[in-house]
Amino acid sequence: MLAIIGGTGLTQLEGLASVRRHVVETVHGQPSAPIEAFALNGHSFLFLPRHGHPHRIAPHQVNYRANILALKSLGVTEILAVNAVGGIHPSLKPTDIVVPDQLIDYTYGRAQTFFEGDLEAVTHIDFTEPYTEALRQRVLQHARQLNMSVMANGIYACTQGPRLETAAEIKRLARDGCDIVGMTGMPEAALAREAGLSYACIALVVNPAAGLADGPITMAQIELAIQQGIERVRTLLRHLISTDWG
Ligand code: HPA
Repeated sequence: MLAIIGGTGLTQLEGLASVRRHVVETVHGQPSAPIEAFALNGHSFLFLPRHGHPHRIAPHQVNYRANILALKSLGVTEILAVNAVGGIHPSLKPTDIVVPDQLIDYTYGRAQTFFEGDLEAVTHIDFTEPYTEALRQRVLQHARQLNMSVMANGIYACTQGPRLETAAEIKRLARDGCDIVGMTGMPEAALAREAGLSYACIALVVNPAAGLADGPITMAQIELAIQQGIERVRTLLRHLISTDWG
């Protein structure tokens, strides 16, 4: 079963009627919102808005563990995560889509593992490739079928937020090789791996990262880019769900 974790700009799936609403409680508490079940052309999938609906949970306060556990408890095996990001790679502009293949975690103080407390054995998951390559390739294949140009690789920098970065921090991330920067990619990806779930990210660029364009980054600018770009993300999701999944 596929689940979509929606980020900023994708807190609901307009035009689709949910067939069920799951209110789930996990050992790590409640997920960001009730999890909705949808069907598209006979293909069923689940949807969870990462920041709640309405959008009210800040990136560092998302209960990532509850979100992943709740989805797993409903039979989810694959997760497509949608994340709004700032663009660092010089070729990226707002409304571009990136399907990253690597990440660097700059967050701190987040509950980032299921493997703590009273354990029978300490477990170190392999995270060499943080995203599930087969899932990434399926997303890219659907983008190709739609003639949608997306950046097929990239390094996602996950910062703590909720503030945006300084220009110097972005220069450092660029030196580290990062192509995009967001606040919600981790620990979500690692927890999915710990839970044994496939996971890939569809990142929507909503602003040039700090210091890469003239002037400050405004919420108005971000909201406009989301408005203009999220429809392509929706089109991609609709295409892959209705022809491939469920
Ligand atoms: N930095 C971090 N997170 C973000 C950004 C950014 O520039 N844009 C959207 N999410």
